[in-house]
Amino acid sequence: MKPHYMITTPIYYVNGSPHLGHAYTSIAADIIARFKRLDGYDVFFLTGTDEHGQKVEQAAQSNDQTPQDFTKEISHQFRSMADRLQITYNDFIRTTEERHIKSCQALWNKIAQAGHIYLGSYEGWYSVRDECYYGEDELINTSDGRKLAPSGAEVKWLKEPSYFFDLSQWQDKLLEFYNQHPNFVGPESRKNELLNFIKSGLRDLSISRTSFKWGIPVPNDDNHVMYVWFDALTNYISALNYPDNTELWRFWPADLHLVGKEISRFHALYWPAFLMAADIEIPKRIYSHGWWTVEGEKMSKSVGNVIDPLALIDEFGLDPLRFFLIREVPFGGDGDFSRRSLINRLNSELCNDLGNLTQRTLAQVNRNCNGLIPEIGMRNENDMDFLSQAYLLPERLREQLDRQALNESLDSVWKIIRASNSYIDQQAPWALKKTDLRRMEVVLRVLIDTLRVIATCLQPFMPESMGKLLNQLGVKAEERQLKDLAHPLPSGRNLPVPVGIFPRFVEK
Ligand code: MSP
Repeated sequence: MKPHYMITTPIYYVNGSPHLGHAYTSIAADIIARFKRLDGYDVFFLTGTDEHGQKVEQAAQSNDQTPQDFTKEISHQFRSMADRLQITYNDFIRTTEERHIKSCQALWNKIAQAGHIYLGSYEGWYSVRDECYYGEDELINTSDGRKLAPSGAEVKWLKEPSYFFDLSQWQDKLLEFYNQHPNFVGPESRKNELLNFIKSGLRDLSISRTSFKWGIPVPNDDNHVMYVWFDALTNYISALNYPDNTELWRFWPADLHLVGKEISRFHALYWPAFLMAADIEIPKRIYSHGWWTVEGEKMSKSVGNVIDPLALIDEFGLDPLRFFLIREVPFGGDGDFSRRSLINRLNSELCNDLGNLTQRTLAQVNRNCNGLIPEIGMRNENDMDFLSQAYLLPERLREQLDRQALNESLDSVWKIIRASNSYIDQQAPWALKKTDLRRMEVVLRVLIDTLRVIATCLQPFMPESMGKLLNQLGVKAEERQLKDLAHPLPSGRNLPVPVGIFPRFVEK
């Protein structure tokens, strides 16, 4: 029996086309999902689209489409983007699907029957863009006398009848939960924010709307649709067929909800409270990454400075883009996108560091070993020390990816790549060719074994390129799991003539 692992991305709002920010979350989640599969886990990786709410209704209207047609079209764009990014999702959920609607109503009923939902009326500052009410004290007062949400979005005063969830009753239970599960929220800075927010006192949460129609009807009260966050969060269990106890339920509680920092509160506070109220287990971890900005400004549909990941794939290739996004910024922090840093990174680390190492090693095996994997031979202490560092990589990555330190894990791999380039320079197998053929073979074999570890570990980050590299190293498709590294490649295997994998880019 394989251990299981469930990972999710947020479901993306379909009020506009997908951009680099959405691609980022999906790529990061995909890397973790692929790594877990590589490590022998049975993985359920969920993504999808969030299709209800006033913001989507308004976007459809301004596009002269029905919300049904509009959401179908944009959801399709998100799905095609995930496919172009080679996101290995197991399910793509749309919140307009019948299965999801049924689950949301079941969750609502469960919480209502337990006595945690009541009818009242709500008035307050509402931001349609954030789909969120804000307290007066949270607002920013502009110099021209306007009020804005903390995110900078417009707010307006709304009053409507509303169903409430008794969030204020959950304050102590939530604090106790965080105490008992110190790894629940990451990174640490988000946790402090959350604790401060809770300690400032929780108000009951309005979880239905009457001012528009595009949402899931509240059971037994058609005048109300569910608050879009109640609807959206439920996707994580509706995809597992909640409330039906099917085989998929084995994946719950999810191991990781990966989210952007702006929606940490919804996942780390509201979601556990809803789940506690419904007597459902709470996911194991919520990790928030930072924002990509373009020239210092947040990238968003509403600001209009979006970067299209598909155009970047056309120009640079998918794997280089996946690599850059993860390598460039500490995961959890913010990053600023620029073409110059993209090109520098690809040239110096993919083309030079990894590309040259591969080319130098494989060209010599091709020329000087008849293209056959050399014998392991007699390794000296220095060879063994060097190799043992490489063989520590899987364990190091396991530990780093379990705490979502994605860029750190690439750091670890690049340390080995740089050490390999020093090793080849010091050992100079091209010179050994004239003096000691046996030793030359030992050195080239050490390099092949190291490259095999590197390529195996990098598969989740750059699946296509590492597939090519593993082909060139003579590693068969069924030998590419982490556990296969325990078995040495048989010597004498024929290697194909090497071809470069990473092109050099020139700044235009
Ligand atoms: N629909 C909600 C999520 C519901 S989950 C139950 C939502 N959707 S969203 O489309 O606005 O954003 C989803 C995610 O996209 C963000 O949490 C974040 O992960 C990612 N990003 C959107 N813009 C981004 C950047 N500029 N930079 C990095 N990631 C960003 O919120």
